[in-house]
Amino acid sequence: MTLPKRVYSGIQPTAVMTIGNYFGAVQNWARLQKERECVYCVVDLHAMTSEYEASELKQSAREMFVSLLAAGIDPDRTTVYLQSTVPEQTELCWMLATLTSLGDLSRMTQFKEKSGLLRGGLGEDDGTFISAGLLFYPVLQAADILAYRAAYVPVGQDQAQHLELSRGIARRFNKRFGFLFPQPETLLTHVPKVMSTADPTRKMSKSLGPRHYIGLFEEEESVRGKIRSAVTDSGDVAPGEVSPGIENLLTILAACGQADDARQMREDYFAGTLRYVDLKDRTADALVALTVEMRERRAEILRREADLDGRIMAMGERARAMAGETLALAREKTGLFPPA
Ligand code: TRP
Repeated sequence: MTLPKRVYSGIQPTAVMTIGNYFGAVQNWARLQKERECVYCVVDLHAMTSEYEASELKQSAREMFVSLLAAGIDPDRTTVYLQSTVPEQTELCWMLATLTSLGDLSRMTQFKEKSGLLRGGLGEDDGTFISAGLLFYPVLQAADILAYRAAYVPVGQDQAQHLELSRGIARRFNKRFGFLFPQPETLLTHVPKVMSTADPTRKMSKSLGPRHYIGLFEEEESVRGKIRSAVTDSGDVAPGEVSPGIENLLTILAACGQADDARQMREDYFAGTLRYVDLKDRTADALVALTVEMRERRAEILRREADLDGRIMAMGERARAMAGETLALAREKTGLFPPA
C-alpha cells in the first residue's frame, strides 16, 4: 500500500555515482518508494547552468539513469526519468518565472556562491560569465516539483532555501489563479556525511580526483584498496572524539547497515583495543557485500544497452503524462490557449 502524497526529487547527471551520492540521497530515495509514490529526475537541464561538454551530456544523463536503477530505484513502482524528455516542465518554468521576484532569486545562497557574487566579482568585468540560467535555476527546480504536484521533497539542507522559494511560488500561483499546487514540504532526512578516504577532512567528491572517491559500482579490488589505504591518524584529536579518518570509516560501516558493529568498534577505539586493520577489513567487507548486487544489476542493464534509450523514452512518456495533466490545468487557469 502506498500513501497518496507524492514524493519528488532530482539529482545532477554526474557520470559516476559515488558512495557519497548513494548514502547521501539515493539510499533514502530507495527506502521512500516502499511507502509512497515517488518520482525521481535526472536534472540534465540544470546541469546546463555549469560549464559542460555538449557531446558528453547525454552519456552522463544515461549513466545516472542506469545508476539509479542499479542502486535500487524500481522502475515498476517509481517513475525515474530525464528532465529534458519532459518539455512540460520547461514550459511551467516560464509561467512560474512570472510569479517569482528577481529580489528573491538574487538572494539565493547557491546563486550567490556559484555566480561568484560573494567573492566580490560581478561577472564579465572579471572575465566570468554569469548566465541568467544560474539565476533561474531555482525556478526550474520549482517547476520540476510543481509539475508533479509533489507533497514531499527529500533533499539535503543545502536545498532548503530553494524549497522555501518553491512554496512561495506555489502560494502565489494558487492565490492569483486558484488552487493547483500543494505546498511541497522538505523531507530533511538524516543522511551520513561521507568524506574522502584519502583526506577525511574533505567531503567525498569526484572533483578531488579518483583517490578521493569510491564509486558505488567500483570493482571489489579497487574498493578494498582505497579502504585499506584510508588515512586514519591525522594529528591531535580532542578528548572524547575519534580522528576524522576513523570517524569516516565508522560512518561508512554504519551506513552499510552495520550500525551495531560500528558502535562496538567506536567503544573499542576508546578502550584502546581497536585495531585499524580490523575496522578497515570490516568496512571493506560491508561495502562489497552491499554493492555486489548493484554491480550485477548494472552489468545486466548494460548487457541490454541497445534497449536503454528506449527505456529512457518510455519513462519520459510516463512522466510527461503526469506533468501534462498539471500543465493543461495551469494553461487553463492562466488564460492560455492549449498547444496547437
Ligand atoms: N538542485 C538540486 C541539487 O542540486 C537538484 C534538483 C533539481 C532537485 N530539481 C530538483 C531536487 C527538484 C529536488 C527537487 O541537488
